[in-house]
Amino acid sequence: MEERNKTLGEFIIEKQEEFKYSSGELSRLINSIRLAAKVVNYKVNKAGLVDIVGAVGEQNIQGEDQQKLDVFANETFIQTLINREIVCGIASEENDDFIVIKGKDECHNNKYVVLMDPLDGSSNIDVNVPVGTIFSVYRRVTPIGSPVTIDDFLQPGIAQVAAGYVIYGTSTMLVYTTGHGVNGFTLNPAIGTFYLSHPNMQFPKDGNIYSINEGNYVHFPQGVKDYLKYCQREEDNRPYTSRYIGSLVADIHRNMIKGGIYLYPTSSKAPKGKLRLLYECNPMAFIAEQAGGSASDGFGRIMEIIPTELHERVPFFCGSTNMVTKAEEFMAKYR
Ligand code: AHG
Ligand code: MN
Ligand code: MN
Ligand code: MN
Repeated sequence: MEERNKTLGEFIIEKQEEFKYSSGELSRLINSIRLAAKVVNYKVNKAGLVDIVGAVGEQNIQGEDQQKLDVFANETFIQTLINREIVCGIASEENDDFIVIKGKDECHNNKYVVLMDPLDGSSNIDVNVPVGTIFSVYRRVTPIGSPVTIDDFLQPGIAQVAAGYVIYGTSTMLVYTTGHGVNGFTLNPAIGTFYLSHPNMQFPKDGNIYSINEGNYVHFPQGVKDYLKYCQREEDNRPYTSRYIGSLVADIHRNMIKGGIYLYPTSSKAPKGKLRLLYECNPMAFIAEQAGGSASDGFGRIMEIIPTELHERVPFFCGSTNMVTKAEEFMAKYR
């Protein structure tokens, strides 16, 4: 018989058996994300045919216009996680505050919290460009049996037990890590099953792609301006290629496969950067590092930052390790 790729369901069971003391909760959690991803994928695929493109007419706490798909994806992921009774709390880019989940028998006995960007790349929905979902999982730090508090969510990225993203692209993929490398699964839409298509993903140590919204150039710090000039100089294997989709998930996914760096620095317009530490940068940093890449705020490791608020923003430099190190060298000159 022809050998076929493992399904995500098979992979999750196999991994659970490898962690001898695992109670299976984390496996169930990844399973419910898999389910929600399929529901959102179905909707994203129909965007343009059904009334799901466009804004809802409200702003989220980030000051952004919420899109209908932002709201749909947010509700789908939250509801799926609540229904499965696996997590004790959820924080989302689209919610002002975190949600406390009581779980079975109203006991607060579940041990994981999930933080997420339910729909990444909102501005690309209406123009048929890849969007994504990003998630991050932590073990709660407050005692089991009590309601979660803000302390359960404000943990540094190094404490993550799992993280991943879904990319709703030319094909839909779910890519995740539990701290033992990174694996990518592609959805076969005909039968609604994810198959292991990208085992043990690796960020090339070097690359020749740089991804940044260069329209903001005049507002960038001098270190970033100098690094961009370096990328564009004719020398060695440069100039590099510039590629920027405007969906973090898609930009990082491409760079992880081809080798490259993604930058969203501070600017005079966004003095703390734009991307959210807890929903976007930490999970992407965990994946990048697990794939042999790096993630920095320009000066130090993203995952060591101690968060002080839920919707905190940070500058983000993520990608092939040698490229991130080079960008940090330019930043250090103006520290
Ligand atoms: P979101 O759609 O979840 O709010 O995230 C948008 C983010 C990210 O996906 C993307 O890389 C970045 O914003 C693009 O920002 P610019 O349009 O400023 O380049
Ligand atoms: Mn948004
Ligand atoms: Mn986002
Ligand atoms: Mn979003």
